[in-house]
Amino acid sequence: MKEKILKKFTELYGDEPGIRVFFAPGRVNLIGEHTDYNGGHVFPCALTIGTYAAARKRADRKLRFYSMNFDRLDIIESSLDDLKPKKEAGWTNYPKGVMWAFEERGMKIPCGLDIILNGNIPNGSGLSSSASIEVVMGFILKSLFDFDVSNEDLALIGQYSENNFNGVNCGIMDQFSIAMGKKNHAIFLDTADLSYEYALIKLNGAKIVISCSNKKRGLGNSKYNERREECENALRTIQKEKKIDTLGDLDEEQFEAVKSLIEDETQRKRAKHAVYENQRTIRAVEALKKDDLTLFGKLMNESHVSLRDDYEVTGMELDTLVETAWKVDGVIGSRMTGAGFGGCTVSIVKDEAVDRFIKEVGETYKKKVGYAADFYVVSIGGGPVEL
Ligand code: GLA
Repeated sequence: MKEKILKKFTELYGDEPGIRVFFAPGRVNLIGEHTDYNGGHVFPCALTIGTYAAARKRADRKLRFYSMNFDRLDIIESSLDDLKPKKEAGWTNYPKGVMWAFEERGMKIPCGLDIILNGNIPNGSGLSSSASIEVVMGFILKSLFDFDVSNEDLALIGQYSENNFNGVNCGIMDQFSIAMGKKNHAIFLDTADLSYEYALIKLNGAKIVISCSNKKRGLGNSKYNERREECENALRTIQKEKKIDTLGDLDEEQFEAVKSLIEDETQRKRAKHAVYENQRTIRAVEALKKDDLTLFGKLMNESHVSLRDDYEVTGMELDTLVETAWKVDGVIGSRMTGAGFGGCTVSIVKDEAVDRFIKEVGETYKKKVGYAADFYVVSIGGGPVEL
């Protein structure tokens, strides 16, 4: 990959010295969905697939971007003096947003850059290709200009840019799991205070399989922001009677005691998911620590049911993938992952069942949905690096 991106770089921008190559991963969330903007816990891990980037400083203030994933788009030019979101800037709004966010924090970028990206995260799959771009961009700026920022800062800068430059009200999970990724470990993160713990993932004869529905989803035009607002409204209602900061402060029992305050049935269901999913995530990590993969899988399945029935973010495609997976012998757990409304599912599948899983889920999906799903057996990788 490094050779491929270097070759393209010199072909497009010339072979003057100073080219450096970086990588940031994508992520998959094992459990704890739609909890990160509700002060709850998440349990994601970084993947070995992600975004490769080559960059070189320029003598002027020009920015040139090129993506090997969208080569029909050619080079997209901009300038450090024009760090504003623009519709026609397409995907370059993500790296530009990060540059803008650095400058907002007082880290002025001294010169322009030539940049090439090449990602191997399936596009629009919900494995966080945009957060991966944000983190790799932050890592480039930190490395080329020696900015004093930690990887945790890179996560916060990425989220800030996505919220305020790109107008997507996402939580911290994606950027955090990418910037803080650790090989073979998932991150048990409490989004209320960003305290976290790494948990070794020992699957003892099983694999993580990602099934991609190929139903494209864009966070911006999805109902993501609407779900967030419904939870915020439910929280405000509960706060009139009970002193809490987030829905993540409640356990199931406490929620049951106050839920009748929420008159709107939809809001009540959304809040129920946020509370129960958070508790499920805490229990799932405990189960994993005790090597109880069966319970972990069961909680994954329950997570999907809650996302389907109470949070209503699954849809026919994701439900077909998951409900078919549940019937395959050797599947320990399966659920949708990420924002939902399309994208991917994550399943834990015994080694000997992986081929059968791909065949059976693939066939049923194609028959029911009309087009094929893609399957990836993935490994847990580390955070951003220079190659
Ligand atoms: C998207 C967002 C995350 C998180 C998930 C749902 O991936 O970017 O912050 O809210 O959806 O769990």
